[in-house]
Amino acid sequence: MSHPIDDAVRDLIASTDPEAAAILDRERDRQEHTIELIASENHASPAVMHAAGTCFTNKYAEGYPGRRYYGGCAHMDEIETLARERAKELFGCEYANVQPHSGAQANMAVFMALMEHGDTFASLLLQDGGHLSHGMKLNFSGTYFKPVHYPLHYKEGHAQREHIDYDAVRKVCMEHKPKMLLCGYSAYSRQIDFAKFRAIADECGAILMADIAHIAGLVAAGEHPSPFPHCHVVTTTTHKSLRGPRGGLIMTNDEEIFKKTNRALFPGTQGGPLMHIVLAKAVAFGEALQPAFKTYQQQVVRNADALATALTDLGYRICSGGTDNHVMLVDLTARNPELTGRDAETWLEAAGIICNKNGIPNDERKPMITSGIRLGSPATTTRGFTEGEMTQVASFIDRVLDAGLKGDDARQKETEAVTADVKALCAKFPMPGASPAAV
Ligand SMILES: Cc1ncc(COP(=O)(O)O)c(C=O)c1O
Repeated sequence: MSHPIDDAVRDLIASTDPEAAAILDRERDRQEHTIELIASENHASPAVMHAAGTCFTNKYAEGYPGRRYYGGCAHMDEIETLARERAKELFGCEYANVQPHSGAQANMAVFMALMEHGDTFASLLLQDGGHLSHGMKLNFSGTYFKPVHYPLHYKEGHAQREHIDYDAVRKVCMEHKPKMLLCGYSAYSRQIDFAKFRAIADECGAILMADIAHIAGLVAAGEHPSPFPHCHVVTTTTHKSLRGPRGGLIMTNDEEIFKKTNRALFPGTQGGPLMHIVLAKAVAFGEALQPAFKTYQQQVVRNADALATALTDLGYRICSGGTDNHVMLVDLTARNPELTGRDAETWLEAAGIICNKNGIPNDERKPMITSGIRLGSPATTTRGFTEGEMTQVASFIDRVLDAGLKGDDARQKETEAVTADVKALCAKFPMPGASPAAV
């Protein structure tokens, strides 16, 4: 049961390209009938989704509002200004650049703007919850700049196990004097203390950058402390908890940093902005400014907590002891040492539950195997799940993994049963904009 505009778009594509339409059909069907637990994904509203499919895709608008390299940009200026103003209101900052094609592009522009080739910056390791654009060897950030990493508390039994070790952050920063200190993560379930980071940055003379890609929706709704006024520069994606189109955003209160990052983005690292996406960003920011968005984010946090609690009750270990936000890392080995993230991801997908394998802090297994999975609540909350459904999802997960440990026959049987349960649940909670199917 999908949205009438989705159906019309699908029919339009089918009328000229049945081959592409058939693939679209399969993906629509997959999204509708599976439970999306990937923490970095969400279901954008029909208005956001279809804003990205408008005539704005036809337009070149290199430059910024009022200073373009092409004619015919009057409405590009209007929409980019609207998106900027809404972003500024949403995050409570002075300047916003809405042109980054993605989160990694936003980060690249900030690095290029505020550091020289070879400069040192401090960040969290990828395997502790950082992002590849925070210093991974094969990424621009690790190739052209020099990362030093600060640790978590790793000791078993430590009350703050797998939380950021702020004393160690300070120690690393005082030793290496990084040009930039980076906070904000891909798989960290605790609140970030931006004021503490700022105190450390000031002491060691670093620029403080926050990449709030994951928690942007929570921050916008006041469900996670804001990086402003503590951080000098803030980047985010727009498509995760913020529930916009795929894209990036750079924000600051500092005019000089705004000018530098603008130049580093265009012409530094990007060409023409994706103006259809800028339109969709404006629409998404408009949605995020509505009171309903706060209610949604409050439920995102409650749902993540309900899922984490239910999994803990079933014998899994949630890294850091739980979650304050939308995401959690599940240590599968607490449930059974034989369980791997790779198997769990594959087995769960076969039953219609979508997640990603993820290393846990100090994971002894390789990144393609892992001891954990990362789960998040933004997409299921968009569909309307509340705590009861999240508890049910935990039991689906455990049924599949438990059967998987018993062998292929047991797994196949349980996969069929859970798939039916997943489909029934999804039918009760249709995709945004669609009406519920009769169940
Ligand atoms: C913290 C963080 N920063 C940046 C990104 C990169 O975003 P994108 O995939 O849009 O480049 C991600 C994506 O997962 C992320 O988690």
